[in-house]
Amino acid sequence: MPTTGPDDEARTLPAGTTPDALRTPCLLLDEARVRANVDRMRGHLTRLGVAFRPHLKTAKSLDVARIAMTTPAGPAMVSTLREAEYFAGGGVRDMIYGVGIAPTKLARVSAIRAAGVDLAIILDSLEQADAVAAHARGGGDALPVLIEVDADGHRSGVAPTDTATLLAIGRRLTAGGATVRGVLLHAGDSYALTDPAALAAAAEAERAAAVTAADALRAAGLPCPVVSVGSTPTARYARDLAGITEVRAGVFMFGDLYQAGVGSVAVEDIALSVLATVIGHQRARGRIITDAGWMAMSRDRGTAKQAVDQGYGVVCDLSGRPYRDLIVADANQEHGIVALRPGSGAALPELPVGSRVRILPNHACATGAQHDCYHVLDGGGRVGAVWPRIRGW
Ligand SMILES: Cc1ncc(COP(=O)(O)O)c(C=O)c1O
Repeated sequence: MPTTGPDDEARTLPAGTTPDALRTPCLLLDEARVRANVDRMRGHLTRLGVAFRPHLKTAKSLDVARIAMTTPAGPAMVSTLREAEYFAGGGVRDMIYGVGIAPTKLARVSAIRAAGVDLAIILDSLEQADAVAAHARGGGDALPVLIEVDADGHRSGVAPTDTATLLAIGRRLTAGGATVRGVLLHAGDSYALTDPAALAAAAEAERAAAVTAADALRAAGLPCPVVSVGSTPTARYARDLAGITEVRAGVFMFGDLYQAGVGSVAVEDIALSVLATVIGHQRARGRIITDAGWMAMSRDRGTAKQAVDQGYGVVCDLSGRPYRDLIVADANQEHGIVALRPGSGAALPELPVGSRVRILPNHACATGAQHDCYHVLDGGGRVGAVWPRIRGW
C-alpha cells in the first residue's frame, strides 16, 4: 500500500467540498473572519500612526501571511528560523526573528540574510552581544539587532532604566560591526489581564518603557531607528503610541478562547476551529465522545486560569454557532469528552454518532501546530481552498 502524506486527502479535495465530507479531526479556517480581524487591527494601528508587523507564528502559512502583511515582502515577525526560511522562500524580505538569539544559530541567520532577506535578531545580554559581535567581525555580516527590553517582568529583556547595560550592549555590537536596529518589547504579562483600563495601562507601560530605552540609546549617540512593541492585548488596547515605530501582534488574526477571556477578541470573531465527528456517548453521565482529543486540540488549557474555564474548547454546530454551555470537558489522546459546563441548565444537544461539530480552541497557536493544513471556508460554508502550514524549528 503506498504511503500517503498527512494532507494528501486535502490536496485532492473536489471543489466545493462541504465540511461534512472531510476526514476528521482537521482544521477549518474562516477566511472572511481572518480578513476582518486583520483589517480591524490594521485600521486601529493606522489611526495610531504606527506600522504593523504581523507575527506569523500563529498561522505559519504563506497564504495567511499574505493577508496579514502590508506588502508581499513584509514586514513580518517569526518565532523560528524554520519560519524565516519558509517565508523567505515565499518572497518575504523584512523579518525579525523574535526569540533571543543563540550563538549556534548565527550562521543560519546569516545564510538567510545572504539570500537577500533583511532578517534581524533580538538579544538582551552582553554574552549574546559578544557572540553577535564576534560573528559580525568574523563573517562580515553587519547583523541588525534589536535589543530586547523588559516591559513587565514577563520573561526577558533589559530593564528600561538599566542604561548601563543597554549602552554596553549597543557599544559592543557596534564595535564588532553589527548594527543596532533598535529596541523591542513584548508585554506578555498583559495576557493575565481582563479589565480594559488595566489593558490600556499595560499598553501605555509597554510604550513608555520602549521610549525610555530608545531615548537612552539615542542620547548616547547610538542608533535606534526601530521602536517595536506588541502583543495582541496591548495592540488592541493601545490608545497612544507616540514614540513607537511599529506594533507586532499575531494571535488576533485567528483569535481564540484565551484571547476572548482577556477581552482582546470576540468569540464571534474566532476564525479557527477543529472539525470533529461524534463517535459515541455516555448518556448516563451526560457525555458525548468525539474523535478530537488533545492530539487535535493540543494540551493547552490556558483558560483554566481564567474566570471562564473552557475545558479543551467550546463546541459549535457546523455553522460555527456555539451550543449553549457545551465544552470539551476532558480529552484523551484521540477522544474528546464533551459535556455541559458544571451547573448548566442547558439541555445536551442530540448529536448522534457520525454528527459533525466544530470546536473553538483555547490557544490558536497550539491547536494549529497539531495540524498540517487549513481547510479554508468560503462565504458559503464550503471548503474553497486548502492552505499548507509548516512546523519545526
Ligand atoms: C516577541 C513577541 N512579539 C509579539 C508577539 C505577538 O503576540 P500575540 O501572540 O499576543 O499576538 C509574541 C507572541 O508570543 C512575541 O513573543
